[in-house]
Amino acid sequence: MTHPPKPPARAGRVSLRQYARLFRDDILSAQPAHLYRAWMAEFRTPFFRSYLCNDPKLVALVLKQRPEDFPKSDRIREGLAPLLGNSVFVTNGEVWKRQRRIIDPAFEGGRLRDTFPAMLAAGVAAVERLRARADGSPVEIEAETSQAAADVIFRTLFSIPIEHGVARGVFDAFKAHQRAQPVLNLGAVLPLPKWVPRFHSRETRRTARAIRALIAGLTAQRMAEIAEGTAPDDLATKIMTASDPETGRCFDAPEMVDQVAIFFLAGHETSASALAWALYLLALYPEWQDKVAKEAATGLDPGTVGVSALKRLAVTRDVFREALRLYPPVPMMVREAACPHRLRDREVPTGAQIVLSPWHLHRHERLWDNPDGFDPGRFATDNGKACLRSAYIPFSAGARVCPGAGFAMVEGPLLLALLVRAFRFAPVADRPAMPVAHLTVRGRDGIWLRLSPREPE
Ligand code: HEM
Repeated sequence: MTHPPKPPARAGRVSLRQYARLFRDDILSAQPAHLYRAWMAEFRTPFFRSYLCNDPKLVALVLKQRPEDFPKSDRIREGLAPLLGNSVFVTNGEVWKRQRRIIDPAFEGGRLRDTFPAMLAAGVAAVERLRARADGSPVEIEAETSQAAADVIFRTLFSIPIEHGVARGVFDAFKAHQRAQPVLNLGAVLPLPKWVPRFHSRETRRTARAIRALIAGLTAQRMAEIAEGTAPDDLATKIMTASDPETGRCFDAPEMVDQVAIFFLAGHETSASALAWALYLLALYPEWQDKVAKEAATGLDPGTVGVSALKRLAVTRDVFREALRLYPPVPMMVREAACPHRLRDREVPTGAQIVLSPWHLHRHERLWDNPDGFDPGRFATDNGKACLRSAYIPFSAGARVCPGAGFAMVEGPLLLALLVRAFRFAPVADRPAMPVAHLTVRGRDGIWLRLSPREPE
């Protein structure tokens, strides 16, 4: 069986200008092939030095052992400021720690059980929306998973479905904002010198203002409901009523708008990408699709199912994990060296850029067996188990690990199981998908599939 799609690597050396052009088009195909074998790679320019770290020991050092020596750079915050303000995604130091102390409890295991009915309702709604399109004609599935993941976020956060006027408004405005200002943009990642001006286009500022105004309306309404004692017990209420155990302070209204903006952005784009690739992989490998369908055939009745049903979805979970390995929605993460370091016998100066690349680490030829192959069974092998511990970081790791990781690992397998239980997914022969990294890893021309109703066996 052939491997699932992988973008071609860049051939040969290029100038900084050529690299910038390739990078703008697609971060993945701008990289040379040796990054799939290297433990560490240095990129020197007249303006900055950049080090891509693939050695699991280095990844652990940067993310887990010394995260404070490798903070997020200010450029990332500057690039995202119009939309995200001072959200937890872009802050560092004490501000970031305080934000995580308030946010993390809302996503803890026990709390996830409370969000399950809302996730299930979003999954059932996605199946209903797709039923009308399951006639064998091509469907661009990313648009569908994007809507489903946005629905999950609005239902779990604010107890409103995507059909609600404000939810729909935020969803549409985000699409417009991404066109104006991709989050993983050149300015945020390439450390160009300070004198290079960084403009936010009028459109970027306009769409960011529109999104924030809508979110501000939702949070103001929720604050009033909390004060009246009529607020639903959802994630927004949990976060807005939680206080920092160290200072006793809660988020104020503008801070809450920052956090909701990042929950929506980080929580829906990523899950949508993972779900779309998981469905595409299942269309390419129908034997695995049948295994998922068999697993999902029983025990998922919306009337009775609870979060414990997920324990039974072992194959579905491994398929979703394998999709996150092959197509990590966040393909690269960037940090900055806050002090000089010696990494693998190289002197890394203060201010150097440290790149962690789930994309390359997950397909590293010296770490994984069959790195480019689709094999959800690998997680039961010694190699798969070892790599899961040391070379698998779709949600990052350490103190700054994605707070939504547990949430996403319930949402992904649940929606996958509900969709495969209802439909057969098949590839569209003349529209193969090719991964490209803009905001997240998406299909260059979308991800096209044919759906047909799955008859019970
Ligand atoms: C498959 C789904 C998801 C993937 C693959 C994913 C991946 C990631 C990764 C790699 C990071 C670290 C980025 C960096 O350090 O540069 C991150 C951070 C974050 N994610 Fe997720 N995420 C997912 C779903 C979610 C969900 C559902 C939420 C919330 C509802 C969420 C909220 C966040 C937040 C707030 C951060 C910033 C944390 C911090 O910097 O302290 N994510 N995510």
